[in-house]
Amino acid sequence: MNARDLIDRLAAGERLDRDQWARLLAAYEEPAVFDHLAREAGAVRQKIFGRQVFLRGLIELTNYCQNDCFYCGLRRGNRRARRYRLSRPEALDCGRAGYELGLRTLVIQGGEDPAYTGPRLVELVAALRADFPDCAITLSCGELEEDIYRQLAAAGADRYLLRHETASPEHYAALHPPEMSFDRRRRCLFTLKDLGFQVGAGFMVGSPGQTFGTLAEDFIFLKELNPQMVGVGPFIPHPQTPLGGHPPGRIDLTLFIVGLIRLLLPRALLPATTALATLEPQSRERALEIGANVLMPNISPLAAREKYEIYAGKAHQGEEAAEGLSHLRARLAALGFETPVSRGDYPLQ
Ligand code: 5AD
Repeated sequence: MNARDLIDRLAAGERLDRDQWARLLAAYEEPAVFDHLAREAGAVRQKIFGRQVFLRGLIELTNYCQNDCFYCGLRRGNRRARRYRLSRPEALDCGRAGYELGLRTLVIQGGEDPAYTGPRLVELVAALRADFPDCAITLSCGELEEDIYRQLAAAGADRYLLRHETASPEHYAALHPPEMSFDRRRRCLFTLKDLGFQVGAGFMVGSPGQTFGTLAEDFIFLKELNPQMVGVGPFIPHPQTPLGGHPPGRIDLTLFIVGLIRLLLPRALLPATTALATLEPQSRERALEIGANVLMPNISPLAAREKYEIYAGKAHQGEEAAEGLSHLRARLAALGFETPVSRGDYPLQ
């Protein structure tokens, strides 16, 4: 079966096995295959979401991190990182500014900062919930104890982003120090789902050691987890990390993968990620055309944004940020996209 037939199977809701996934992925450079996927994935997005693109306000809470992931600039081993954490009033002010810009999802993201993953985070969520009753609250704060996840849900958090990074345990071990494991990551994701969170998984494209085989595992895992959100962006080397000498991920493969995820999980909320926009600003719109339907403008204070350097040169101004939001909206409108003032929840059907 050729790649076009595999795309048609996916579009019909059929499952692919590992070999079929790997074969389909290997065809991403064939223009006819890419175009066929773009048409099919665009049609699925259109049927479920029309031209609606949902905006999320991203608040980068802290860049302290107890983890030492080999790819990430926030890793504890990066002595050059200038560390900061926002106070609760600062984070609430960001939320207020985002709300006034028409954002109705606030995403609180941070490194695994022990000072901000316990009661202090629960208190922040409760304060956001009280101040912004009509907003969705999304957290992206890493692997926490089940009891904390439960308290965060009770305090009013709706969604949780925790990229699985790779569903191959061996590849996971090549990207992370020995104290971290895919098994634990996977358990956190299923726990979050059980607790009623809308859950986001995802991975980097082109991380060192990734193959079409490991990517096939990612697709099989995504189908099993059935997350409401999936974040996928290219790997971008950060010089102060062990993987800083590797080349960045391919934009065209990233876009191809976004299209495949749209077919695999038709109702999923898929961001056109900042990593894509960092490598090539126009790729954000290409991601929307191939099935992405979420953008996450940065509403952190400028000083924080500059220090939240997950990878080199991370875009954090203009259309990636609050200041550029009206410009972003206008450009999306010119492309025929709507940006409703809405929580943009996972559609029930
Ligand atoms: N390049 C691209 N994405 C990265 N992330 C971390 N480091 C990098 C990098 N060097 C992604 C990871 C993580 C998310 C917060 O950012 O997938 O889950």
